[in-house]
Amino acid sequence: MRIVVIGGAGTIGRRLVPALRSRNHDVVVAGRTSGDVRVDLASHATIEAMYREVGPVDGVVSIAAHGALDEFATLTAEELQENMRAKFFGQADLVLTGQHHAADGASFTLTSGIFADQPWPHVTGGGAISGALHSFTLSAAVELPRGMRINVVSPTMIGDSVDAFAGHFPGMRPVPMDDLVEHYLDCVEGDHTGRVIRAYG
Ligand SMILES: NC(=O)c1ccc[n+]([C@@H]2O[C@H](COP(=O)([O-])OP(=O)(O)OC[C@H]3O[C@@H](n4cnc5c(N)ncnc54)[C@H](OP(=O)(O)O)[C@@H]3O)[C@@H](O)[C@H]2O)c1
Repeated sequence: MRIVVIGGAGTIGRRLVPALRSRNHDVVVAGRTSGDVRVDLASHATIEAMYREVGPVDGVVSIAAHGALDEFATLTAEELQENMRAKFFGQADLVLTGQHHAADGASFTLTSGIFADQPWPHVTGGGAISGALHSFTLSAAVELPRGMRINVVSPTMIGDSVDAFAGHFPGMRPVPMDDLVEHYLDCVEGDHTGRVIRAYG
């Protein structure tokens, strides 16, 4: 399959991309400054340009963009909207725009995060982004055309974030990277749609 991975040069991407290639997929890596093709999830024009450049794809995997930490007491609606721009609206745009460019039966695999389910100080934006991605995925799965599929992977702590958040979530263990990669592979190669995959270790 021909697959474009947005954020393929990042922490998760650096493990997922070789795994996809080892299974004989033709992988194009996209990012703002990294990879084969330039795209910024905060810019609709670059998303359109990316799809035109890569041509019809069988899979779109997004593991890019983060929610910023915030301060609830001073947070404004405008700041919240700006925080959601790349990770929520950008990933939604990848699907809304991608439905017109991707091949029949193509899959979309998005990335959210544990703050959708686990509140923590300073992640109002992060939680809202991931919760919105979960609901977007459920709705999009009902209406995507031409047999297209969509799923979202919600990772808990991995990489550097283990140290930052370890101990704050009682009973929560970091998700092993191999397990996380398996979830993405399953979304790309499987036949399920409309799933929120909670990779919580
Ligand atoms: N790491 C964790 O513990 C963890 C836990 C839960 C959820 N997540 C989520 O998983 C996703 C990936 O995490 P990660 O740790 O692999 O991130 P990462 O190491 O920071 O890598 C992010 C990748 O995305 C690209 N990127 C960033 N902003 C972008 C944008 N606006 N448009 C296009 N590409 C962009 C970056 O490349 P360029 O700089 O070249 O654009 C980079 O390749 C994020 O959504 C993150 O919030 C991560």
